[in-house]
Amino acid sequence: MAMYDIHCHILPGIDDGPEKLEESLAMARMAVADGTDTVVATPHAARVVEKGGKVALEQRILAFSQELHSQAIDLRVLMGVEYLLSMELLQEAQKGAAIGLNGSKYLLMEIDFLQYPVYAYDAMFQLQLLGFVPILAHPERQANIQERPELLAELVARGVLSQVTGGSVLGYFGKEAQRSVEHLLRNNLVHLLASDGHTSSQNRPPVMSEAVAAVERLVGEDAAHCMAVANPSAVIGGTPVTLPKSRPARRRLFPRLGR
Ligand SMILES: [Fe+2]
Repeated sequence: MAMYDIHCHILPGIDDGPEKLEESLAMARMAVADGTDTVVATPHAARVVEKGGKVALEQRILAFSQELHSQAIDLRVLMGVEYLLSMELLQEAQKGAAIGLNGSKYLLMEIDFLQYPVYAYDAMFQLQLLGFVPILAHPERQANIQERPELLAELVARGVLSQVTGGSVLGYFGKEAQRSVEHLLRNNLVHLLASDGHTSSQNRPPVMSEAVAAVERLVGEDAAHCMAVANPSAVIGGTPVTLPKSRPARRRLFPRLGR
């Protein structure tokens, strides 16, 4: 099962991802070894602007892809950006300058981790009117959504997609994020799983397989496949995604036996 990672900070020297090319290459090797076929490089929008905008980003991706090729690392790297939901993003979108994932209508965005913006839905609705599909990154790590998952349910009901981070499922971001992601998964509020990788070490590696296995145990194999393969593939291709339905893996009759 080749996985597609639509949220990863893999490019060197642009944001809080790897500083050096060697670290980016180490991340790429990890991703390939873990079964990832394609990564969308999604540096933070503010850093993209500071460092030359879209043209410079395209050049960075081309240069990195050439380096991967010369090192015989079989990883496809596509262009994306992680935005902060803001007036600046709306203005970029209105100017036709917002960068979707692989040039698609899908826009990846995060919101403040501690303060859910009162304008969240209105801003996303404006983006929808412009033809974009907002993807909210790591809602399970947002304090207000942790307390009130109905905030996300409202967005999802109105066509916003949600992307959870593999590390949250594995507990790398603490108990609250883990509890939240399990709740969101079980309540059919997750479309996409991604690594949000930043480094080849510590708790933010560009890998997904262990998290996919954990998601399978929580909501079933079909839903996990949809989140890590089918839906990310649709995002990259600019085609519609589906909302996978939770179907917990069947419990063993005597779960304690054989442990
Ligand atoms: Fe990110």
